[in-house]
Amino acid sequence: MQNIETYQKSFLSYLEDFVVNKKPKNLYEPINYILKLGGKRLRPVLTLMTSEIFNGSTSAAMDAALSVEVFHNFSLIHDDIMDDAPLRRGKATVHEKWDLNTGILSGDAMLILAYQLFENYEPKIFQALAKLFSKTALEVCEGQQYDIDFETRNDVTIPEYLKMIEYKTAVLVGAAMKMGAIVAEASEEDQNLIYDFGRYLGVAFQLQDDYLDAFGNPETFGKQVGGDILENKKTYLYLKTLELGNNAEKTSLLDLMINKALTDDEKVEKVKALFNASGAADATQLAVKDYTQKAFNVLDKINISEDKKQMLQLFGEQLMNRRV
Ligand code: IPE
Ligand code: IPE
Ligand code: MG
Ligand code: MG
Ligand code: MG
Repeated sequence: MQNIETYQKSFLSYLEDFVVNKKPKNLYEPINYILKLGGKRLRPVLTLMTSEIFNGSTSAAMDAALSVEVFHNFSLIHDDIMDDAPLRRGKATVHEKWDLNTGILSGDAMLILAYQLFENYEPKIFQALAKLFSKTALEVCEGQQYDIDFETRNDVTIPEYLKMIEYKTAVLVGAAMKMGAIVAEASEEDQNLIYDFGRYLGVAFQLQDDYLDAFGNPETFGKQVGGDILENKKTYLYLKTLELGNNAEKTSLLDLMINKALTDDEKVEKVKALFNASGAADATQLAVKDYTQKAFNVLDKINISEDKKQMLQLFGEQLMNRRV
């Protein structure tokens, strides 16, 4: 087993070779731009790590890892269009730097490139990877549509929210790990257990993402802080404020959503104060811990050595405490 940084390094050098300068440049430049913008690379690291955990090699898992990262970056381009986001990883988003049409088409091409990478596997593995990929990608679309639908709904429930983030985010984390298990030809039972581990971790990850969207440090977070508040996203912070807040806090939050007189900064500050005062911010941190623990409970059922479990646990703890 290697450590997380070593997986990251070998992935980055593989990614370097993938990036090509083909024509037309307005199709491929944005692809290279987003792929080289940085990012934590957590999904490909999970694919590589999982392959080794089930006694496969990292080199055999490289194309699957790359596929997951290319898909993730495609989803970010389109997500930033849908969320009207100006910043990604501290730089201009693709649709800001180029334009909307460029973001749409470069994103489409990346989705195809991601799928194409499976052609490097023999038929049996190819089929298993492609099947998982198609199911996951469709679920991500469903999650993204719920996310958008919820912006204009006032009756979103916490279970609906949890299902939405499971689809838009968590299933891809689960799939990244399952792909590593598929390449390593792990048993079906282990493949499904590691998928569940990743899925719970992914829910915790998105809860933390919602938290950081409001409370992250603008210098280091790399995205517009308060972006979710400005888009009227029905995040855990928002829904918990409506559940835990007193009547005055709940009314204030609902009023702020439709108030057109405030500047963006004023709206963000006032909403954040309500998230804190109502106890929703603390409740969100508790939920992050809770879903990380759910992931760790799955780990108990997987038949792998203690040191491998510890490595996965360390990964989960780092994600839970992340600030970027
Ligand atoms: C951002 O994912 C999108 C979410 C699912 C929250 P990451 O936080 O993994 O983004 P990068 O790749 O590290 O920039
Ligand atoms: C991202 O959710 C989910 C996908 C990209 C599919 P967010 O909209 O919260 O992600 P960020 O915050 O823009 O990275
Ligand atoms: Mg977004
Ligand atoms: Mg979004
Ligand atoms: Mg977010």
